[in-house]
Amino acid sequence: MAYKNWSPLWLLLALCPLLLLLRAHPPLAAPAGAAGEIPQEPKLVALTFDDGPKPRTTAKLLDGLDQRGVKATFFLIGSQAEAYPELVQRMAQSGHQIGIHTYDHVVLTDLGQADFDAQVARSRRLLTDLLGEDRFLLRPPYGAVDDGVRARAGAPIILWSIDPEDWRDRNTQREVAHIVGNVQDGDLILLHDIYPESVEAALQVIDQLHQAGYAFVTVEELFAARGVSLVDGQMYRSCPP
Ligand code: NI
Repeated sequence: MAYKNWSPLWLLLALCPLLLLLRAHPPLAAPAGAAGEIPQEPKLVALTFDDGPKPRTTAKLLDGLDQRGVKATFFLIGSQAEAYPELVQRMAQSGHQIGIHTYDHVVLTDLGQADFDAQVARSRRLLTDLLGEDRFLLRPPYGAVDDGVRARAGAPIILWSIDPEDWRDRNTQREVAHIVGNVQDGDLILLHDIYPESVEAALQVIDQLHQAGYAFVTVEELFAARGVSLVDGQMYRSCPP
């Protein structure tokens, strides 16, 4: 009977290729993040929203951000913040960062001190009354900055590096493709939470960039993570690693 020929030596020789095969394959099957992998720094990006708060669209965005555990930065119009204080307080309670986008959405260049204060200092006062803090980043409407704006800002001036121009055709798919196709580590993305199409685009971008290994942080967190101290009156567009 052939059975009798299976001595221990033959059995060992027969098993050798199988053992080698098993040794070769476990690393391929190891789950992501397992011990032994080289840890990767997360890619960081900041979503920023201008011109709100607006009741329906901003509330829907806040719901979507909460569901995804994402923190964003909102540059508010003072008159809107005054009209919808509960939305501003909800932003702060959810851990989002709040900045100033003037009281009436005006161009700040060429303004004298009194007119500048009526837009920026007035917004700062009302946000301070609502939130109990007085340090707010400034985003001038249209990104319009001159020496006077820099001198009077009293805050870091935050611009952006990715702009899908969501106001142009309000097309969710085009906005998502623009952002996902151009984004790089350290970018500041500009959207407006006053358009339903932009809110939808933001949530789709979050889901796609999460898959691509991006983490979403506030503007302040992005710069702090890279050891950059924001200075009043200076302009910032992005924060690459
Ligand atoms: Ni604006």
